[in-house]
Parts: sequence; structure tokens; C-alpha cells
Amino acid sequence: MKLIFLLGALTFLTCVNSFSNGTLPYIEREIDGNSRLVVSGNRFVILGGEVMNSNSSTPESMQEIWPKLKRLNLNTVLLPVAWQQVEKQEGEFDFSVAGSLIDEARKLNFKLVLLWFGTWKNGSSGYAPHWVMRDTLRFPRMKNASGENRPYLSNLSKNVLEADKKAFNAFMNFIKSKDPNADVVIMCQIENEMGLLGDSRDRSEAAEKNFSEKVPSNLIAHIKKNEKNILPEIREAWINNGRKEDGTWTEIFGKQNALADEMFMAWNYATFVELLAKSGKQIHNIPMFVNAWTISPDNPPAGSYPSGGPNYRMLDVWQAAAPSIDFLAVDNYQDDYAAKCKQFYRSGNPLFVPESCALVENAHLTAPAKAFYTIGEFGSIGFSPFAIDYEYFAPGHPLERAYEVLSNLMPIILKSKAGVNMRGFMQHKQRADNLDFGDIQANVHYNYSYKGYGLIIRLSKEEFLVAGSGIDVHFESKNPNFKEISYGLLQEGRLENGKWKTLRYLGGDEAHNGGGLHMPSPYLKDDAHCGMISAIKAHVFFVKNPNCKNSDIEFKNK
Ligand code: DGJ
Repeated sequence: MKLIFLLGALTFLTCVNSFSNGTLPYIEREIDGNSRLVVSGNRFVILGGEVMNSNSSTPESMQEIWPKLKRLNLNTVLLPVAWQQVEKQEGEFDFSVAGSLIDEARKLNFKLVLLWFGTWKNGSSGYAPHWVMRDTLRFPRMKNASGENRPYLSNLSKNVLEADKKAFNAFMNFIKSKDPNADVVIMCQIENEMGLLGDSRDRSEAAEKNFSEKVPSNLIAHIKKNEKNILPEIREAWINNGRKEDGTWTEIFGKQNALADEMFMAWNYATFVELLAKSGKQIHNIPMFVNAWTISPDNPPAGSYPSGGPNYRMLDVWQAAAPSIDFLAVDNYQDDYAAKCKQFYRSGNPLFVPESCALVENAHLTAPAKAFYTIGEFGSIGFSPFAIDYEYFAPGHPLERAYEVLSNLMPIILKSKAGVNMRGFMQHKQRADNLDFGDIQANVHYNYSYKGYGLIIRLSKEEFLVAGSGIDVHFESKNPNFKEISYGLLQEGRLENGKWKTLRYLGGDEAHNGGGLHMPSPYLKDDAHCGMISAIKAHVFFVKNPNCKNSDIEFKNK
């Protein structure tokens, strides 16, 4: 791990593919994956929340929700906009609800990420207008093996694509007219958790015909070019079938595990979405992304999760077919949260978690840990629990404090580089995490009754910022000439006007009597509501080994 000590020196000259299009938001890309969202010219991390599916459908229904979101210290709200609602009759568009949502967000100083619930939502086409769903000749469906229509519009139909594109373009034109500089609407999600459920592949005639044709040459070119980094299962299938550059889906990827089916579906979904994103961006060039239903447990058959959706298995196919899509986001509801994040953090795909923490009892209490981990460990685009408007997130919820601390430390977080001078951590089943910072390691211990979490940023050679809850942290030198670490001032505090303000000096019990940092957790197992989340600036000193023979070795605090 390369060390970078001075924050001022973190200019990240390795940026590639960065471009600025005036004031509009964009993704600043880095070779090693530390990509950042840039809004109004400044890096920005989403401390978000997604409202439930129906609650942004009228301004009235949002009225009582906005103040709750403010109290939770969100900087960004994720809100659906439904095709069936904005184009009730073909060609007649009404974006008045979206308009009032934008007005309200502007007043309250929220950013918005708008979710285009168009042709597909959770696999099916429940948000397509009735005039689309009723006309199965003009707007064909995917079919099962018995030839029956499924409630999924075909991803091969030009008519479906053109109808969705017309509506999506109208939506983009509307956003552009309402918010030309993207002060409010900073990104757009296209469709929602698309993919085919119940089968690995569409069995309609059109799909059967297409499946028997050749694999598009740009997919093969992508696989060849990125052979080392693509999903191992795709690489192996391609190699085992003779590294062919020409052939049908099963000739090139074989018949095992329905991989060819899933890739075929992914190619067709991604090609469809690419055409939406490309034309939408020509109108209003803001970042556009897709979100995936997480695959769990590990290897179920495609179709038990949405086959061909933008999940981690199909990331390579999506990247090849949909270059206008800025990233694939993961709806991460799983217990092995960290593993699911890592699956999406590869091949230059920045991490964004637009949905998390709902559905299962008490999952909402894990939101603070997931926010710290997602932002600290991956330098991510952001984090957002689903159903943020649900009663779980009641006054005093620990997410309020978590977002307050993260937003206070944001100037430092934004200058830091995940995996280099910044690490995030959260407890799953492990008792400890040892985080490598080059010549020093931070050993994080979790206590028994509470799942601790946090992030650590190295500010300089001997200065660290530690924020989180329910952890003990001890530093361990890896330099044999300076093996011992001694602790200087431990200052609990916050940033005020860009400067550190110490609110308490920690010693005794709060400092393991000089042996490290102790960041207490709530006293009771489920008592996460007291929100004991703090930030500590810690001075740690490398002590020279008295037995060290070489008297010339001097410590350089650089
Ligand atoms: C994932 C979807 O993307 C959301 O819109 C919502 O339906 C949740 N599942 C579950 O309620």
C-alpha cells in the first residue's frame, strides 16, 4: 500500500476520463476505482435515503415526509417517478408532481436522485402505462417455454424501446427546463432492478431467433481486452469453449449453468438501456446508473434473481453494452453486506448503495454502520437506506447522528483516498479488523454485545482521525526500528469552519490508560438509539527502539 501523508498533496493526478461539462454533475474517474461524484464543481458524497415506492406519487403524500428526512440529516433523497403516472395517455405528458418535488427539495436544500420507473421495475413491467400493457401486439412481452405472455415487456422490441425513450426524453427535457444547472437533480436511475424472473431466458420467438444468432463482436472484443479482470466464470466458459471470437451464445459460452442465457439477457437489457441513457444524456448530461437486485445465497440459478439484470455477475456485459451508464449500483439488503459491496467494486465500477437496511426486522439499526463502511472503505458515491420514510426511522434514530458526523467530517473524507489513507470497517461476525496503513496498522477490536463500526483516516505520519462507535483501536508499528507506539493527545471533537475544534480530551478509561482509543458503544445490545458516535483526532508516536544498532536511523515525520 502506497502511503500518502499530507492531505494537501492528495491531488489525485491519476484521474482519467474526467471531464467537466460546465456545472452539470459528473463522475470523476480514477484508475484504481476511487471515483467521485462531482456536483456544482465539488466532490459530493450522497448521505441519502430512498422513499417507499408510492410516497412520492403526490406532493400531499410527501408533505409529512420532508421534515422527517431533514431531521435525519440526509443531503440527498431518492424518489421514484413513474412512467404510468406521467404519460397516462400516449403522448400527453404531465410532470407536475416531479416539478413540485424538485421545488420542495430546492427549498429544503436537498439534492435529488430521480428513479425512472419505466419499462421494468423489479423484473416486471408494473409501471408501464395501461396503453402499453394492453397492446401486446404493438408492445410484445417476454414469453415462457409454453409460449405464454409474461408480465415483462420485451427488451428486443423496438416499439417498447421507442415508447420508453420518448417518455424518458420528455422527462429529461422537463428536468433540464426545471433545474438547468442540476442544482437539485444530480443523477438519474434508469429502470429499477430489471431482469427476467422465473426463467433464465425469454422464450418468445423473437428471443429464440436472436439467441441463435451470433454474439455481438463488441462483447467478444470487450472480453478479450479485459480477459484478466472479467468475472472468472465468464472467462472460464469462454476459454473452455475454445476462446472463440465468432459463434452463437452457446457456441462461445457453452450450455452450463445457463450462463449463455443470462449473458444474452444482460446484453439485450443493457443495449436497451444504453439507447435510453444515450439519448437522455444528449438532452441533459447528468450521471445515469442502473441498480441491481442482490444475488443471494451465492449461486442460485439465473431467473431466481432477475436474469440479465445489472448484477455483479453481468457487470462486464453491461460495461460492454452500455457505455453511457456511469455505474451499476447494488441494492444491498444482505447480511454479508461487505462481500456484496466488494462484488460491485471492480473494473472501475464505483460503489453506490441506493437501497439497503429495510425489509427485515431491526435491519434499519445497521444503517449507521453501513454508512460509515460504505463511505470509508470504498470512497463511494454514497449510501442510502430504503424506506427512509417508514416509521423505523423515528426521531432519535442513530442514523441522524451518523449522518451528522459524516457530514461534519466530509471535507476530510472528500480529500482522502479509500484503500490508501482512508479505511472503513464494520463488524459482521469477526471480532477484529487489522487495517493496513503502510508502516503502521490500526487494529480495531469490536466488543461483545454491539456491532461496532467506523472509519479511520491518516492525516499525517503521526496523526489519525477515527470516527465510529463500539470499537477499541490500537496502532501497531510495522517499522522494526520504531516498533513501539505511544499515544499523545486524543481529542474528541468536530470540524468548525474547516478547523478542528476539540470538545473533550480523552484519557484514563476513554484511552485505555494510555494504551489506545476506546469508543464506547450503547450499553444494551439493541440500544443503538443513543447514537454514541464520535470523532477523535489521535496523535500516535513511533518510539525509537533502544536496541537498534544503527544510530543513524532517524525518524522522519513526513
Ligand atoms: C427493491 C426495489 O428496488 C424497491 O423499489 C422496493 O420494491 C424494495 N425492493 C422492497 O420493498
